[in-house]
Amino acid sequence: MRKGLIVANWKMHGQRASNAALIHALNAGLTKQSDVDILVCPPSIYLEQIKALLAGSNILLGAQNTHSEETGAYTGEISAGMLKDMGCTHVILGHSERRELFQESDEFIAGKFTAAQTRGLIPILCVGETLAQREADETANIVLGQLEVVLKHAGVVAFGNAVIAYEPVWAIGTGLTASPEQAQQVHALIRNKIAEQDAGVAGDIRILYGGSVKADNAVELFAQQDIDGGLVGGASLIVEEFLRICSSYT
Ligand code: 13P
Repeated sequence: MRKGLIVANWKMHGQRASNAALIHALNAGLTKQSDVDILVCPPSIYLEQIKALLAGSNILLGAQNTHSEETGAYTGEISAGMLKDMGCTHVILGHSERRELFQESDEFIAGKFTAAQTRGLIPILCVGETLAQREADETANIVLGQLEVVLKHAGVVAFGNAVIAYEPVWAIGTGLTASPEQAQQVHALIRNKIAEQDAGVAGDIRILYGGSVKADNAVELFAQQDIDGGLVGGASLIVEEFLRICSSYT
């Protein structure tokens, strides 16, 4: 039985005061659920603040990105070892905003995946198709292609200690959500792809859905066989919404 995972991706939102209010409210409002982990990924500059606010809480801390190199002349970048040092357990990699806006390639993301694991972080690898790709019937090719590069680079066994997030680009921040059936179909493709190489890893790996997850659609999404939780953007900044999303996982 896979344990659920719900991730709050704050993206480039937050300030010290609003961060503190949000974390206090989550600490107070989250009921202990043994069947699901909750992970908060704030902007990196606030990791230390959030780590302190999470002292004594079950909520885990993660980052939104890292670099593939461990140290060196990479102005503005943050390494996996630094994130580990700050108390992170997970790091989001290959988010579509990174792929699109910062031209991150599959190969670069694969390098980050290995760097994260080498430093003891669990990578959350994001994959997903654009609307044009979906309409051209390219969803499976795109999603499995993105996965394939990392599978080749890191090997299937590495996925025993990783999370995958399926985030259709057309559903991110748009209010359009993949229907539970559409999402389940892609999640099953992803799991089957891994099962071709290792059935045990495929059975254990958590595959999250992301893209306009809200309190109102979370129950149906999480009820799907191959959906093991959510990667939540906008709704993770609204306490009541996020608490309801978390309690939707049963
Ligand atoms: P929204 O939940 O705002 O659509 O964002 C999804 C996302 O990109 C999470 O990583």
